[in-house]
Amino acid sequence: MNFTVAIDGPAGSGKSTIAKIVCKELGFTHIDTGAMYRAVGLFALNKGVDICNEEKINAILDDIEIKYVEGKIYLNGKDVSGMIRTPEVSNAASRVSSYKLVREKLVYLQQKASENGMYILDGRDIGYKVLPNANLKVFLTASIDCRAERRFKELPNANLEEIKEQIKIRDYNDSTRKESPLKQADDAILVDTTEMTIEQVSEKIISLIKERMC
Ligand code: DC
Repeated sequence: MNFTVAIDGPAGSGKSTIAKIVCKELGFTHIDTGAMYRAVGLFALNKGVDICNEEKINAILDDIEIKYVEGKIYLNGKDVSGMIRTPEVSNAASRVSSYKLVREKLVYLQQKASENGMYILDGRDIGYKVLPNANLKVFLTASIDCRAERRFKELPNANLEEIKEQIKIRDYNDSTRKESPLKQADDAILVDTTEMTIEQVSEKIISLIKERMC
């Protein structure tokens, strides 16, 4: 059976957490597209390539092979899942994801990877760009305070106010860039998770999928 779900939303809205739970419950495969942009950012940082120089980033794209398999992200054959969550890589991912050729390469990989089967892709442009014909599109959101608190719980040594500022900057960059900005697809269902638990959000999406499968 082919069935695809697009989950988009800003940083910290819970996309990946929810996608993982729903996939496990319903036997879908999860593709975290943000991890792919993070892998490109990590590669550039490791090579000492200026992430603000689009031409230089374009020039290294052919040296990058990215695979997302069973919840792990592989960069040129190496599992980098544990290395892509730092603030430096978040910033680099946000920057390189604004470049046209980077997006073309990753969108192609994402579409190929989800061609046959049951997939949930989470990201920023899935509903209107990567999977415009997805069977279900959800746009997750939450207040800035709530999203910052969630990240803070994952990184307790960090400073809450700094996390909030970083999320604000990333929201601004992701939603105002020219190439495929963060945007809700016209036919996506908006779910504000501010006052919801992870279980409630997962249940809501599971019931939406079941409705559409009938
Ligand atoms: O979801 P995330 O925080 O791991 O994403 C990292 C960065 O990648 C984010 O700043 C925006 C970018 N991104 C994107 O532009 N398009 C996607 N489909 C997924 C992520």
